[in-house]
Amino acid sequence: MNILGRLLYKSRKFYDDDFDWESYTADSYERRLKGDIESRFKAITNEGDLAFDAGTGRVEVRDGALHPNVQLILETIGHLRPASVHEVGCGGGDHIAHAGLLFPDIRVTGGDRGATQLDLAVARHPQLAGHVGIQDITMPFSEQWPKADLVYSQAVIMHIHTAVSHLVALANMVRQAGKYVLLVENVQCHNFVQDLTALAEGGHLYWDETHLYQVEGSTGARGILLSRQALALPELVSDSQIRAGEAPSVRRLRRSDQDSARALVGFQRAWRK
Ligand SMILES: C[S@@+](CC[C@H](N)C(=O)[O-])C[C@H]1O[C@@H](n2cnc3c(N)ncnc32)[C@H](O)[C@@H]1O
Repeated sequence: MNILGRLLYKSRKFYDDDFDWESYTADSYERRLKGDIESRFKAITNEGDLAFDAGTGRVEVRDGALHPNVQLILETIGHLRPASVHEVGCGGGDHIAHAGLLFPDIRVTGGDRGATQLDLAVARHPQLAGHVGIQDITMPFSEQWPKADLVYSQAVIMHIHTAVSHLVALANMVRQAGKYVLLVENVQCHNFVQDLTALAEGGHLYWDETHLYQVEGSTGARGILLSRQALALPELVSDSQIRAGEAPSVRRLRRSDQDSARALVGFQRAWRK
């Protein structure tokens, strides 16, 4: 590399994750959970507050409403009926706690890299004690992570931008899951469909087959479902498909493209001369 190249390399901008996860609970999460979420949606439920109607595929809520993303997560679980569910980046634990109450026959676990997040989760939902643990989904895969039929995340991978960590996280989620991975993420923050397709084609995904679908909750939220087997659901083939109807965020989409451009997948025996 010439001198100019070296200088430019040193001043090059690399993205970091969106937050400092060490101080995240006190910096913003707890305040936003109490201010923005609890003021508008039911965040903590008791037995009998939620019901799943298998006929309509809807989750019914007594005295209030769930955030649409949560409605989607619970309705997807109700539709797929996995024996076990694991949430990556479970934060304050509300979603996995709802899942445990609504589907008592399903084994639920949650992981998060933030100890203070897990403290909050157990304080909010004492029944989660013993079911949650520290997990950094961007680390090399660990056999200690709880395996589950369905592994999901909500608002986690969208915030991961350190080098190719989000790709490592996606591949890890697939390996942790026996049957399904559900991503309920801001789809402008990464090119999820392009990245997952590249990971699958490059041999980075643990499953023999990966099928991508778009799923929708009854109150409008959209998610990306990966399945090991073909399902009778709308296939997802592009990021523009899942972004349809959303006002584009130029800054986020530029960063998504830069994130994806860093990825080298597979083992390429032929390369450009
Ligand atoms: C925006 S919060 C969302 C929390 C929760 N899913 C919710 O919807 O309330 C992002 C969460 O991801 C966790 N997180 C960030 N990076 C992670 C990683 N590499 N592995 C596991 N969890 C991570 C954070 O600690 C935080 O709890």
